[in-house]
Formats: sequence, structure tokens, C-alpha cells
Amino acid sequence: MTRIKIFDTTLRDGEQSPGVNLNKLEKLEIAKQLERLGVDVMEAGFPASSQGDFEAVKKIAETVETVTVTALARAYKSDIDRAWEAIKDAKKPRIHVFIATSPIHMEYKLKKTQEEVSEIAVEMVRYAKEKCEDVEWSAEDASRSDLPFLASIIEKVIDAGATVINLPDTVGYTTPKEYGVMFRYIKDNVPNIEKVDLSCHCHDDLGMAIANSIAAMQNGATQIEGTINGIGERAGNVALEELVVALKIREDFYPYTTTLVLKEIKRTSDLISKFTGMVVPGNKAIVGRNAFAHESGIHQDGVLKNAQTYEIITPELVGIQSNNLVLGKHSGRHAFKDKVEQLDFTLTEEQITEAFKAFKLLTDRKKEVTDDDLFVILTDIQVDL
Ligand code: KIV
Ligand code: ZN
Repeated sequence: MTRIKIFDTTLRDGEQSPGVNLNKLEKLEIAKQLERLGVDVMEAGFPASSQGDFEAVKKIAETVETVTVTALARAYKSDIDRAWEAIKDAKKPRIHVFIATSPIHMEYKLKKTQEEVSEIAVEMVRYAKEKCEDVEWSAEDASRSDLPFLASIIEKVIDAGATVINLPDTVGYTTPKEYGVMFRYIKDNVPNIEKVDLSCHCHDDLGMAIANSIAAMQNGATQIEGTINGIGERAGNVALEELVVALKIREDFYPYTTTLVLKEIKRTSDLISKFTGMVVPGNKAIVGRNAFAHESGIHQDGVLKNAQTYEIITPELVGIQSNNLVLGKHSGRHAFKDKVEQLDFTLTEEQITEAFKAFKLLTDRKKEVTDDDLFVILTDIQVDL
């Protein structure tokens, strides 16, 4: 089994979700929960972006005990100074410095040649290394970069002291095969690459972030960057809870382990949803309201006989108390009877038949029948007989 490090960027890339703005206390609460969740690295923020973010990152760095705390910096000395000032008191600090390497970013955004970008990257990694032993370097838009150029710049930043090399799919454009080929190329063409952690960072614009992250692992990535609930720029980052649970459930297929405490997933997801105001869609894998809910009679009957008929993940694994058999128009008598017993009613078979009829009539008017609705039906039946 290969150990994969989990780098959580909910507090940085996640906070870059349009409309999200976390205050210092909210960021601190999330950081504490990420520590309970057992991530290896948390990117606490981008200190050069605002005084508020600087203070939040500093507070997180002073508070977190076991997790590496990193802060983002553009390839400017002033950004690196600000990042270091914020994280220098962390037990395990890391500076994360990035510069774009794709032709479109270099030409239009940076207005620099490959040689200039290479020189800046090396100089900034050296500068960061004077302050901090652990330096991550990211090639922004790596997945649209020229591979020989990427290999040559990575070789130089490793020589300059980088400890982690991150190759983001910044615009969520790559495919699993293409992204895997890029990681394999870097593994095969960069001397000393085995001395650093190779990291992937996927955005979900084409809905391929999970598949791309898995392809990266299969081709040498040992660190995965992502966010909880998949929040982040545009369509978001890879959803860490989905990736990690997929690895666990299909460990027969994927020989990778992480140290994430899976039963903390639901609590973490709820906290982040509450503080960011980003509602988790009901049908979202792992943490959505419906992820462990069964509505149809056939499914409910199967689950009551053996949950594995329709559940590949136990709700308890990710910190959810139990599955949920939603009583609606597709529900059958078996699930209904089970619910009657849960509500502590003891009815005869005849009473159950009566109550079930009343319940079915109600489902034509109400999408979901609640415990209160059932209580009324069942009490009526008991009183009537
Ligand atoms: O998506 C990206 O390229 C990033 C980098 C700044 C790491 O978030
Ligand atoms: Zn990103």
C-alpha cells in the first residue's frame, strides 16, 4: 500500500469560491476540525491577499498542533515574507510558492519567457528556503504546459530546495490519461524526483477531478490536494471526502492508504457548509442528504433485509448515525411496518393494513411523509379500533 498525503486547501482555494468569505474565528474552527479529520497538510490561506487573511493564518499556525500548516505566496519576495510571517510559529510550517508555466499564462498574464519564469521560480524557491525548510512549489496551469519545459524547471526548483512539487490542473481541462502521462513523464525525466513529494491539484470544470487525481496517484503522485465538499474556484476542487472514501471502499483495486479519520467526514462537511453558506447538494456522494436515503419500496425492502443490497458504504463509516428510509409514495409495507415499530406503536396486522392505506393516500398529496404525519395516522388507528 502506498501512503498518500492529504493536503486540504478548503481554507485557501475553497475560500476562493465566489461569494465565500470566512472570518478569523470561522477559519480557526474549520482548522481545528481539519486537524481532527487527520489531514497531513492544511493550506490556511493567502496572507498577502488581505490583513484579515494574514491574521487568520497566523492564529491557525499558532493553534494547530499536529498538521503541517502552509500559506500561499505568488513568486514575489513580499508575498513570501508575508506568508512566512504568518506561519513561522507553526509546529510544522511550509511555504507554498507558485508561478504559471503554461504558454498562455506566461505570454498573456506574466508577459515573460520560459527562461525568465525559470529564473524567477528558482530565485523564489531559494528565498523561501532561507526561511523555511519545507517549501512547496506549484507550476500553475501545469496540465497545459510544455512537458520538456516543465521537467527542466522542476529539476531546477528541486536543486534550489523545493520539498514538494505540485502540478495543478488549474482550469480543470485535463483528462485522466493525459494527466497520468504528465506525472509519468516528470517521474521518468526529472533527476532527484524521488527526493520530493509529487502532488496533484485538480479542479472539476469537466467533472473529472476525482478520475484525474486517481490517475495522478497511479503515476507517482504521493500528495493529493483538494477541499471538503469540493468547494473552490468555479466548479471547485476535487472533493477530498469522495476521493478518500472511494480509495477505502475500493482498496481491493487501489493500493493507497491515507490517515484520514473517516468518521469525522460528516461533521467536517456540515461545519464547512454552515460557515461558507455553500449548501451541499442532496445527491452529492458521501455527504449529501440523500447519500444514505432510500425511497423506493424495492430498495427499502432490500436494505431492511440486508443493507448491502443497496448500500456500498455504511453511513457509520463517514460519521452518519444511520441510513434513512424516506417514507414516500414509492415506499412499501415492509419499510412502513419497520417505521411503525421505531415509533413505538404496537399494531395488529389488521391495524397495519389500515394505517398503510391511510399513509398511501397521504403520499398522493405529500412528497415526504414525516414522523409527525405518521404519528397522527397511527394514533387515529389505535383510537378507532
Ligand atoms: O489551481 C491552481 O493552480 C492553484 C495554485 C495556486 C496551486 O490553486
Ligand atoms: Zn487551485
